[in-house]
Amino acid sequence: MDDFIWWRDGVIYQIYPRSFADADGDGLGDLPGIISRLDYLADLGVDALWLSPIYPSPDVDFGYDISDFTAVDPRFGSLGDFDRLVAEAHRRGLRIILDLVLNHTSDRHPWFVESRLSRDNPKRDWYIWRDRPNNWQASFGGRAWEYDPATGQYYLHLFTPKQPDVNWRNPAVRRAQLDVVRFWLERGADGFRLDVFNAYFKHPGLPDNPPRLGLRGFDRQRHIYDIDQPEMIPLLNELRHLLDSYPERYAVGETYVGTPQKAASYCGDDRLHAAFSFDFTDLDLIYPWNPAWIAGRIARRETIFNAAGIWPTTVLSNHDLPRAASRYAPGEDDARAKLAMALLLTLRGTPFLYYGEEIGLRDLSLRRGEILDPPGKKYWPIYKGRDGCRAPMQWNDAAYAGFSTARPWLPVHADYPRRNVAAQAADPDSLLNFTRRLIALRKAQPALTRGDMTLLEAPRGCLAYSRRWQDQTVLVTLNFSGRSVRWSPPAGRKWTPLLPAADGSDAAAVVLQPRQAALLGSAS
Ligand code: NOJ
Repeated sequence: MDDFIWWRDGVIYQIYPRSFADADGDGLGDLPGIISRLDYLADLGVDALWLSPIYPSPDVDFGYDISDFTAVDPRFGSLGDFDRLVAEAHRRGLRIILDLVLNHTSDRHPWFVESRLSRDNPKRDWYIWRDRPNNWQASFGGRAWEYDPATGQYYLHLFTPKQPDVNWRNPAVRRAQLDVVRFWLERGADGFRLDVFNAYFKHPGLPDNPPRLGLRGFDRQRHIYDIDQPEMIPLLNELRHLLDSYPERYAVGETYVGTPQKAASYCGDDRLHAAFSFDFTDLDLIYPWNPAWIAGRIARRETIFNAAGIWPTTVLSNHDLPRAASRYAPGEDDARAKLAMALLLTLRGTPFLYYGEEIGLRDLSLRRGEILDPPGKKYWPIYKGRDGCRAPMQWNDAAYAGFSTARPWLPVHADYPRRNVAAQAADPDSLLNFTRRLIALRKAQPALTRGDMTLLEAPRGCLAYSRRWQDQTVLVTLNFSGRSVRWSPPAGRKWTPLLPAADGSDAAAVVLQPRQAALLGSAS
């Protein structure tokens, strides 16, 4: 494709490094493990790899509590391994996106260790210390302030108490954080995923948030003073300027307490390239599997992102959510997982594929004593945390699914002898081969990557839309129902089937099997 822009036209694959591939046999995934699987990823057809944090971490929040921003956790490898990963990935046309967690550090980060020593320590103001807490709540439960007896003050933490928020209003902090970005750019990172970026700045007076109705303490507040402060925009301008001083670099933001409007407002030529709007996963604990609801969410995001001239992203799974296959496809049948994959890979916007999504990896079901994730420990059994979606990748039917030679940090899902990459690679009807075909189709049809998007009238139980680019149109129909459905594409053009089979025939009408996706193409 002419003028291919990797982050807009490509597919981004998220790797949770501790669960992807373990090369040194300690039960924890690592960078050499990822390197050993680059051929698989290139063959899958993805364009970029987003690595969840690879930095040294005490693992209170499994990598999202960082004690050194410019090193690799020795359990994952070394800076040399990172350099090798970049070189080997680039050799295969794959970009590397790092996860930057710049809102907070671990409480073991040397900055915080110093900051808490005394009230007049030069690093004191690198964090947010107060004599008295306000009413802010931590999103993992409890209030957002921790009392530190050593100096008799409270520090702010929007997540666990072991993740103190840094003070972005301090110019020295701002410089240090931008130096972190520069460090990884110099080492060859192609882009960044910015963890909860819109929480960096807090209102300087730290006023109480106003109340509202909600389930958890965190939900019972309007988050108007703890996030989304106006100072974020000039910072994004500066960050973008820095990124643009290197060729083809990218930043996608994780919009915290996000809406599509908010996500779009942080993007633009002098802001982020993209920000997650989580259109299909934003209702905590509820994931409708209903074409009318999904159509409504598509319409909403299309209106907002089109008006703003911003390129959307599509996410169905990540390391914070129950996996799409677990939400929508109960048991081991992958028909619904294929439908979800077809949706992910045909909407307008950059698809983010979460490791294992291509083989329909299911969530682990853990006993209380096995839960590691802090919010899971706190809210069990109402909310069991995020360990379930972080299970080891299932490569083959060997012990520990070929992920490791040692007992992994989280159990392997019991279905691994049947559900694994090797088995699905050998099965033409597998979700893995379906995903490969769709990614290839997406690449071959600019309408699917760049084309505009129009929702169409569809039979009951179905979702239909067209993607159009220049003289090419691709029609997508997804049958969510358990019945077969006959669908006639708009008359007046010759439609050829692209999926499930591309046989060159003239498709005046399509019969969709239960839970089947069909794609038709036309050029005129
Ligand atoms: C968002 C990340 O996605 C999540 O995994 C993490 O726990 C919090 N930010 C805190 O860093």
